Amino acid sequence: MVVNLEDRMCPKRSRNGNQEWNLVMQATCCKTKDRHLPAFIMDNFVRRRFSPPKQKVSRFLSAGSVVADIGCGPGYFTIPMAELVGSTGKVYAADSDPKSIKVLRAKSDARRLGSIIDAHITSAANLGVVPDRSVDFVFANAVLCCMVDHAGALAEIKRVLKPQGLAYLSVTKAFRKNDPKAVTKEEWNRILEGFWIRENGEGLLNRWATVSVKNGIPEISIANASRASV
Ligand SMILES: C[S@@+](CC[C@H](N)C(=O)[O-])C[C@H]1O[C@@H](n2cnc3c(N)ncnc32)[C@H](O)[C@@H]1O
Repeated sequence: MVVNLEDRMCPKRSRNGNQEWNLVMQATCCKTKDRHLPAFIMDNFVRRRFSPPKQKVSRFLSAGSVVADIGCGPGYFTIPMAELVGSTGKVYAADSDPKSIKVLRAKSDARRLGSIIDAHITSAANLGVVPDRSVDFVFANAVLCCMVDHAGALAEIKRVLKPQGLAYLSVTKAFRKNDPKAVTKEEWNRILEGFWIRENGEGLLNRWATVSVKNGIPEISIANASRASV
């Protein structure tokens, strides 16, 4: 994995520009590292009650679809997506947190979905296992805002998407000032400029969009796109 150390420097604590010092800071300062969360935060009965996962993703999928769930966590969406695409489909699941992938693999085995779900401990900025232009649907829910290398992840999303494929992106609106993981409103708008926007919106806590690659299908105006929050 290529890590851009400059991107990972802590702006508050590394003012002397010394790279070795910055490496120490990188290891100790939470702001400079990707954010990993305990499984129970990402999969619990409250979330299932108020945001049922199948409901959110079913309209993007059909039997046989190829999906990439990047920043999949313990599989809150991965498992239902695998059930929806079925045995003729495939779900690549990628997360840089080994604990999340361990939980996901256990769930996948328990539900006999191991032949559909291909889970990897890797960064969203390094999806080497996924071939170019092979994915119908990329699901990147709340991952860009948990990682530092936004450009790397976006390049991978564009690389793996089929020309007619769709990506669902979302980021939190709640972040600390100067956190390099944060996706500000300005950055979000710049990110969307790199895609055709099929639909987009925002809630109290997040911004989201469904997009496709610019060298794929032609743009449709946002006014014509559904604005229903997903
Ligand atoms: C807020 S959680 C969202 C999890 C899942 N998408 C969901 O909606 O349930 C963010 C996830 O991104 C993962 N993550 C953080 N940095 C990452 C990176 N560089 N590459 C891949 N995953 C990353 C975290 O481990 C965590 O599982």
